[in-house]
Formats: sequence, structure tokens, C-alpha cells
Amino acid sequence: MRVAAAVLALLLPALAAEDPKVELGRRLFMDPTVSRTGRVSCSSCHEPEHGFSDPRVLSEDEHGPSRRHSQPLLDLAAGQPLHWDGEFGTLREVLTVRLATVVEATALTRSLQARRIRVAKEAGRVTAFAGGRIPYGLRSPDEVRPRDLPEHVLPDDGLPVAKRLMSDGRYRRGFVAAFGTSEVTTARVVEALEAYVLSLRSGTSPFDRFRAGDTAALTDVQRVGLSLFLNEAGCAACHTVGEKAAFTDGRFHNTGVAFHADAERFGEGIDLSLLFDFKDGGAGEVTLFREHLATFKTPSLRDVARRPPYMHDGSLATLADVVRFYNRGGTPNRGIDPRIRPLRLTEWEMECLVAFLEALTSDERPGLGPLPPRPRRAMIEVLEDGRPLRDLAVEVVPAGDRLAGAPPAEPVRKHRTDILGRFWFEFPGRTHVRLVSRSHEILRGRLIPDSVTSLTARASPLE
Ligand code: HEC
Ligand code: HEC
Repeated sequence: MRVAAAVLALLLPALAAEDPKVELGRRLFMDPTVSRTGRVSCSSCHEPEHGFSDPRVLSEDEHGPSRRHSQPLLDLAAGQPLHWDGEFGTLREVLTVRLATVVEATALTRSLQARRIRVAKEAGRVTAFAGGRIPYGLRSPDEVRPRDLPEHVLPDDGLPVAKRLMSDGRYRRGFVAAFGTSEVTTARVVEALEAYVLSLRSGTSPFDRFRAGDTAALTDVQRVGLSLFLNEAGCAACHTVGEKAAFTDGRFHNTGVAFHADAERFGEGIDLSLLFDFKDGGAGEVTLFREHLATFKTPSLRDVARRPPYMHDGSLATLADVVRFYNRGGTPNRGIDPRIRPLRLTEWEMECLVAFLEALTSDERPGLGPLPPRPRRAMIEVLEDGRPLRDLAVEVVPAGDRLAGAPPAEPVRKHRTDILGRFWFEFPGRTHVRLVSRSHEILRGRLIPDSVTSLTARASPLE
């Protein structure tokens, strides 16, 4: 066993430095092949450089815009409810629904939905809903169908992720390192992604250094902000600053965000029974508890300055907007949490609060993978119709996520295939590269992970 591991470590310098499952998961997370239709990577909606959330108000996948704003993935704990409304109980459920074929995903959401309705009925809750209307989240997922897309965009549509990954061999070494064999199964993909997501931890921030005794770590303004956060503004009631300073209580609250869009239409004091005229019932749609309507999971505030816009609907563009929102007392409605009330802060105090929120940014960007000590080289053989494509100019474009210590941007390198259609290159400090040529599409534009040492790449002429 130990010998085998040592041999593996020698063979796989790229994956040896850390947990190979986490490193595989990191690479799968960045790869668009790892999605239902092979077009949207996890990182396209959870951008590592954007606090693992999305700069867009709503994300886009093969079904169109997402219903809610993307969530950050830092500091997640196993066993806490997931999604803004707590729809999923485990990370595995979230990932399975994301990656399974439409048929499988529909079956899983159906069974979760049936379980929720049964539990709610047993607790006598479903009747609490006026007219017995089933809210959005519980409607039949029959309509879940990928949009019609032209065939050439989706050569693999319908193929389970695992089959697709298995067939092109790019991740063979990654799977061997993580699981002992090169077999790709959905369960293994989910396990690697889960290990990676759970490895994403916020780093030390100025606030942490201040707590550890470095009084100079926060500016005067930030210190006033901290005091407001803990006391007068009452933020820490939900964004808790206990021993671990997680900045979330892991619970669901109605702060009125769900009522933003309709505040003008209904005026103050919106009745929750009108909620089905609204877009989003939050956790109430999941538990079928009337009191849970319009409540959403408290997000952690660590690294919050890295990831505008804010809230489950992405409706607040900046931290200053968020603080103004709380200062107004949220958006009033009859179910609003009593701790959300007009704060009467001065402009300067609001600036102090924003400055404090900015002091929760980790010194180093979270989730940077280790840069292997030795350079990783790969040989690519380019074939067209089974024949070597010689003298082809190929650009090796850095892609995926950057690795620790690598510069944020790295140059594109130019290469030319030899008489046998081959060329060699060195990986930049990134998880992947993409091969680009003026005349041909190579490997269907797919990313090459840095565990690859040699690969045969099919090319087809661009129109
Ligand atoms: C098309 C955009 C999109 C893609 C692709 C995507 N996500 Fe998400 N993700 C979201 C949105 C939006 C939410 C919030 C969903 C909600 O509350 O309704 C979310 C929520 C989550 C959560 C819950 C976080 C929490 O705090 O509760 C996890 C975990 C997650 N995504 C992981 C992933 C992983 C891993 C992948 C790749 C397999 C992925 N996501 C792909 C948009 C996306
Ligand atoms: C009653 C509990 C509660 C209190 C008190 C509270 N928050 Fe929140 N906070 C939440 C919830 C719940 C959300 C998500 C709401 C939503 O999206 O619908 C949130 C969202 C946020 C966000 C957006 C984070 C993101 O990633 O989108 C910020 C920033 C924030 N709160 C800061 C504050 C500040 C500053 C205060 C004090 C002035 C405060 N909160 C007081 C519960 C609370």
C-alpha cells in the first residue's frame, strides 16, 4: 500500500502536495464538461476570484437564468441546510441534482419534494397555506428541460457527466490519484467536488488579526464600525461573532428582502398571505410553515467585500446599499424579524460599518491550490481524421483557477506541432490550459488539467 502511494506520488507531482481528492475536485469545479450539458462549470457561477459567488445578479445555465443570486461557498459545514431556502440537506444532494441527467435530477427533486410534503402534512402544516396552493419550489419539475440548443454546441447532451469524462481520458491520472483506479462514476465526481467545496475556508482577515491582539490591524473607522456591528446596529444578533466568528447563525430570517420589488406596489405592512403574488417564498416553500415564508439563510460575511451584488435576489449592488437597507429597517412586512428596525445611524456611522465589513476580507484569496514544486510538462499529439496535423500553430492559454503564488495573469505561449503532430509545453501556475489555433478546433475547446502528461487531441477545421 505504502509503496504504491509513494510510486503514485512520484508519478503525479501535480497532485502530490495535497489531498488528491480535493485537487481533483478543484479541477472538476473549473471544468465546463462537469455539468449536465457540458457548457457551464461550477466556477462560472461560483467564481473563485469573486468570493465564490457570481458578479451577475442572476447566473445563467442551460435552463436560462437561475432563480436566485449565486451563494458564496466559503466555510460550509457538513450537515447544515443548503441553498438560500434550505431546500437541500446535504452537499451530495445539491451536487447530484446539479450533475445528474435531467431524468435523474427530476426523480431526485420529486422524491425530496414528496418527503417534504409528507412531513408537512403529518405536522398539519400544509393547510396553513391559503387555498392550499403549492408554492413555486414544490411545483412539478416537469418543465425542467434544457433549452433547445444547436447540436454542434452540445455534442454530449444527455450523456451523464461520468461517461463524458471517462471517454476523453483527460482526468485519468486525477482519478487514479484520488480513488486508486481511473474509473469515473457520478459518485466519484460528487465525492471529489464535495471534498473540494468543504476545503474552501476563509483566511485570516484584518478583523482576525485585531482579535488576536494586533490593535493596529483595524483603522479607527473600522473599530467604530465593529462597535456598531456588535452593539447599536445589532448585526451580530444574526451574523454571530462568537468564538469562531462565523458571521452567520446558520438560521433563516425575514429581513424583508423578498418584498423589495413589491414594496411600492403594496406599501408598508405587506401581508404574508399575499406572498404567492411574490417571486420567492424562501424557506417557507420548503418547510410549508407559514412563519418561515420569506425567510432566507443568513450568509456569512467573511470575504463579503469580494462578492457584490448582495442578498438572495442580488438586489443590492454595494455594501453601502446593504447598510442603507438595514438603516431603513429593511423592507417592512408583517413577518419581519423584530431585530430589523430603523437604526437611525448617521452617514458617517454607515461609512464606518461598511469599512468594518471590508475588514472581513481574507489577506490571501481563499481556496488557492498548492503550486507543485516541480514544473509540469505535457506532450500533446494533434490528429485530424486520425492523421498527425503537422506544422500547426497552437496557443496554450492559461485557464481554470490560479494556484498559490502564481500571478493573477499569465502569458499565452505559442507552439508549433512537429512532423508527427506533437508539441511539448510547460503548464503555467494554473489548474488548466486551453489549446487554441486559428484554423482548427482542438479537443472541442475542452480544458486540459495539469495532471495530464501526454494526450492525443482530435482537431477539426473551423468553418
Ligand atoms: C448556473 C449557475 C450555477 C452553477 C453552474 C452552479 N451553481 Fe451552485 N449555486 C447557484 C445558485 C444560484 C445557488 C443558490 C440557489 C438557491 O438558493 O436557490 C447555488 C448554491 C450552491 C450551494 C449552496 C451553498 C449554501 O451556502 O447553501 C452549493 C454548495 C453549490 N451551489 C455548489 C455548486 C457546485 C459544486 C457546482 C458545480 C457542480 C455548482 N454549484 C454549480 C448557481 C450555480
Ligand atoms: C435578523 C437577522 C439579521 C440581522 C439583525 C442582520 N442580518 Fe444581515 N442578513 C441576514 C439574512 C437572513 C440575510 C440574507 C437575506 C436575503 O438574502 O434575503 C442577510 C444578508 C446580509 C448581507 C448580504 C451578504 C451576501 O452575501 O449577500 C450583508 C452584507 C449583511 N446581511 C450585513 C448585515 C449588517 C451590516 C447588519 C447590521 C446592520 C445585518 N446584516 C443585520 C440576517 C440578518
